[in-house]
This record gives sequence, structure tokens and C-alpha cells, in this order.
Amino acid sequence: MPSPQDFTLITGASSGIGEALARRLAGERRPVALVARRTDKLERLAGELRAAHGGEVQVLTADLAKPGAGAALEAEVGRRGMVVDWLVNNAGFGTHGRFHELPVARELEEIQLNVAALVELTGRFLPAMVERRRGAVVNVASVGGFGPGPFMATYCATKAFVLSFTESLAAELRDTGVHVLCVCPGFTRTEFQEKVETFDTSAMPSFVWMTADQVAEQAIAAVGQRSVLVNGLMNAVAAGLYKHLPAAITTRLIGGMMKPKDA
Ligand SMILES: NC(=O)c1ccc[n+]([C@@H]2O[C@H](COP(=O)([O-])OP(=O)(O)OC[C@H]3O[C@@H](n4cnc5c(N)ncnc54)[C@H](OP(=O)(O)O)[C@@H]3O)[C@@H](O)[C@H]2O)c1
Repeated sequence: MPSPQDFTLITGASSGIGEALARRLAGERRPVALVARRTDKLERLAGELRAAHGGEVQVLTADLAKPGAGAALEAEVGRRGMVVDWLVNNAGFGTHGRFHELPVARELEEIQLNVAALVELTGRFLPAMVERRRGAVVNVASVGGFGPGPFMATYCATKAFVLSFTESLAAELRDTGVHVLCVCPGFTRTEFQEKVETFDTSAMPSFVWMTADQVAEQAIAAVGQRSVLVNGLMNAVAAGLYKHLPAAITTRLIGGMMKPKDA
């Protein structure tokens, strides 16, 4: 069991998978630190979790796509006397459309949040875990990280980075007492899709969808058990297809599925 100052720090805890992870971990009486931009949503969740479970819940507002945010977050964690025992790098977003038509500044912001912030926070909090010989880093990638994704080119590339980076770390840290896990969800009902307005998911059959709580439950159970978790059977099949079919075929299949509404 973690000691009182040991926290699970969850980025992107104000909605979706991050919120579901926070609810489950707080329910297991783990102290949690909730990170995102929307303080009001974090405070509301924190109040609810404290009332339901009586545990320690900290709120840390941060825009992780902004330069300096990682250093400021580490400093605030230190100032509050918290120890990051588990780090969950979950915050992320996806852009959708033909790359040449998308604002490049937003693509760079996506790389900053999905990749650079994840690497930075891992680099800031992992050394102390290795020194203590315990802890966990949970990085949320996507089944889209298993191969190229036309119309979500930058997004899938960021998730391929997360998958590769996390598997490498898991191998490096074997036998150190620190667990490393890459979580690869597929279609999950969260705010993610609402934010990708040009991607019409209305025709997706219900069996491809998972809930954020299902993803969170599987992720927590997989810590210390494996280095990569692909959530659900459908996504495991998709990841297998990416591995075994030539890219010329998968890009056609994925491109057909991801085509923008106006195409
Ligand atoms: N939903 C899916 O189908 C799906 C599939 C595969 C992978 N994923 C991955 O799962 C992770 C969680 O996504 P979700 O589905 O739960 O989506 P979501 O409901 O949109 O949650 C995204 C979270 O990231 C936070 N966030 C966004 N920009 C941020 C920033 N600049 N700084 C700090 N926090 C920021 C958001 O909070 P604020 O807006 O309050 O900052 C929110 O809490 C992402 O990495 C996503 O790529 C999702």
C-alpha cells in the first residue's frame, strides 16, 4: 500500500479515461493528484471523491502544452510535500483531417501534449521511483499507435511514439521495482470524439465502443502484469492486423474509415 504522501498523479483527469482512473484509484484509497486545465471540473471531482472515499485528493491546474508547465508542476508537487508513486500520462487530444489543410500550430500543440509533456513528466518523476525501487509509469497511447492513420496522421504518429517509448522504458526498467505500462484503447466514449467534429463516428457499430471505466479498470489491473495493454478484443484484432498486414492495405482500410465528413 502507498504511504500517505505517495500519490498517483493523473494528467487529463477532468474527463474521460483520466477521470475514470481517478475514480477507481480513489476508490482503492490511493491518494490522487488530478491534473488538467479546467480547475472547476477538477475541484468538483475532488470534492466528490473526498466525500465518497475520505482519501487525499489534490488538484493541480496545468496546461501541459505550454512551455515550462512540466517544471512548474514538479515544483508544485515538491512544495506540497507530495511523492509521485504512480505517474499516469493520460492527457491528450487528436486532430483530424488532411494534414495539409490543418493549422500547423495545432499539430505542434498536439505533439507538445501527447509526446513532449509525457516524456518530460516521465523524466522528472521517474528517477526518484527508480531510486526508491518502486512506482509505476502508465502512458496512454492508442490502438492507432500500431500503424499509420491517414486523416489523423499527427495523432497516430504521436501514439506510435508513446508506444515505442514506453516499451523501451519497460525493458530498461525490468527488475528495478518500477512498473511501466502502455495502455492502448480504441474507440472509447469520452469527450475525445466531441472535440473531433469532422470525424463522423455515428456509423460505428456499438460493439467497437468501450466505456472509459472499462479502459480504466483494465489499465489498473495490468500494472505490474505486462508492458502493453490493448483494451478489448476488437482492438486486439485491429492491433494484430496492423502488425501482420502490409501498410499499403492498412492505410487504405484506416483511411476509408477515418475520411472526414466533407470528403
Ligand atoms: N476516447 C478515445 O476513443 C481514445 C482512444 C484511444 C486513445 N485515447 C487517449 O486517451 C487519453 C484520454 O483521452 P479521453 O478519451 O479521455 O479524452 P477526453 O475526455 O477529451 O480527455 C482528455 C483530457 O486531457 C486533458 N487535456 C487536454 N489538453 C490538455 C492540456 N493542454 N493540458 C493538460 N491537460 C489537457 C483534458 O482536460 P482539460 O480540457 O480540462 O485540460 C481532459 O481531462 C488521450 O491520450 C487520448 O489520446 C482516447
